[in-house]
Amino acid sequence: MRAGLLSLGFFLLCTIRAYAEVPIQPNFEEGKFTGTWYSIGLASNSKWFDHKKEHLKMCTTIITPTIDGNLNVTSTFSRDGQQKVKTKTLFRTEQPGRFRATSLRWGNEYDIRVVETNYDEYALTYKGKTKDTEIFTMVILYSRARNLRPELLEKFRQFSLDQGLAQSNILILPPSD
Ligand SMILES: *[C@@H]1O[C@H](CO)[C@@H](O)[C@H](O)[C@H]1NC(C)=O
Repeated sequence: MRAGLLSLGFFLLCTIRAYAEVPIQPNFEEGKFTGTWYSIGLASNSKWFDHKKEHLKMCTTIITPTIDGNLNVTSTFSRDGQQKVKTKTLFRTEQPGRFRATSLRWGNEYDIRVVETNYDEYALTYKGKTKDTEIFTMVILYSRARNLRPELLEKFRQFSLDQGLAQSNILILPPSD
């Protein structure tokens, strides 16, 4: 009985740990977060990522405020030797540093968080699905420059592992030409 209770306690602890809240940068300042970022690291458990990971490269992302108070995220990357531009809108929530996005193509809704940033060097972001039972997690490490200190790469790696991602889900992106 006692052992049973103990293992139940352990189970609950593990369950709680698995669903621990993903942090958001305290006192998030959106005005300092906008501008140009390079994607340095990408980690995900999605099928898309698994299929593409050998071909993924660093891309440039420009974040600007939209007139209706949300964020415009425009990424430029090269695919098959061609420049592609992709724009999406992050919708503000009542919590600064936390956004909502939808994918028309897949009909999904996402929870996006700026986990940690010092604004002028790096930003660690998290994206997860809010509906659906299929687990989806994406972690992106952004830099203001085309490289980043090893400590920050390690922070990204550790945070991704903490979100339940496997080592093979974590990628440092090679620079694009
Ligand atoms: C988003 O930003 C890009 C460039 O940063 C711009 O070309 C595009 O028109 C913007 N789109 C919207 C909907 O604001």
